[in-house]
Amino acid sequence: MEIRKPNPAFEVHEYGQELRQILGENLPSHSFLLQYRPNKNWFYYEYEGIHGMRHITRVLILQELLASLTERARSMLLNREALRFAAITHDLRRQSDLADESHGQRAGIWIKEHLQDLCDSKTLEMTAELNTRHNDGIKLPFEEFPELALFKDADALDRCRFGERSYTKLNERALRTEESKTLIIPAKAIYLLSEAKVREGVDHFEAPLDAAAELGLIS
Ligand SMILES: [Fe+2]
Ligand SMILES: [Fe+2]
Repeated sequence: MEIRKPNPAFEVHEYGQELRQILGENLPSHSFLLQYRPNKNWFYYEYEGIHGMRHITRVLILQELLASLTERARSMLLNREALRFAAITHDLRRQSDLADESHGQRAGIWIKEHLQDLCDSKTLEMTAELNTRHNDGIKLPFEEFPELALFKDADALDRCRFGERSYTKLNERALRTEESKTLIIPAKAIYLLSEAKVREGVDHFEAPLDAAAELGLIS
């Protein structure tokens, strides 16, 4: 069974039901993802900004969904821990919300210097590489480095936050896999609901997780 790409007539909660059928016990869970809360003092730039806690938590959720779908669709195993740690660290070294082209390289160096106890050395190496290369602008084939291709897509899916008229908006054609394309509408739904929750006073890390759970995208 392949997951269908939702459209405006295909509600996000229906996508959630399909996810549940397809992933079963492998559907990511709210309580599991809660363990990956980044420390507030890891942020060099704005914690509440457009590349801050809400964004990296949505990337954490999106990479988790995408990795589960990809492993199943392609019968492969990915380094899931490296993907999770890259999600919560890739934008921590930003110095501005502009292109800031070397923020990925700085995040690669930073994680090795500051979070070396977070995981085993192989995972740390891959996390550093994902951070370093996440914004290199290079279009690499999925097969060459699956985790990096997947991670770039997860990060790109949250570009819905820039709005339709922004030059940095999500470019569907730039997404590397069909699994990623199925997540465009769910990603926007997570974004909208998580922002609404933050406006109601919910914590910046918990709001995206609560939103994804409420939409039925995680258990
Ligand atoms: Fe980035
Ligand atoms: Fe990002």
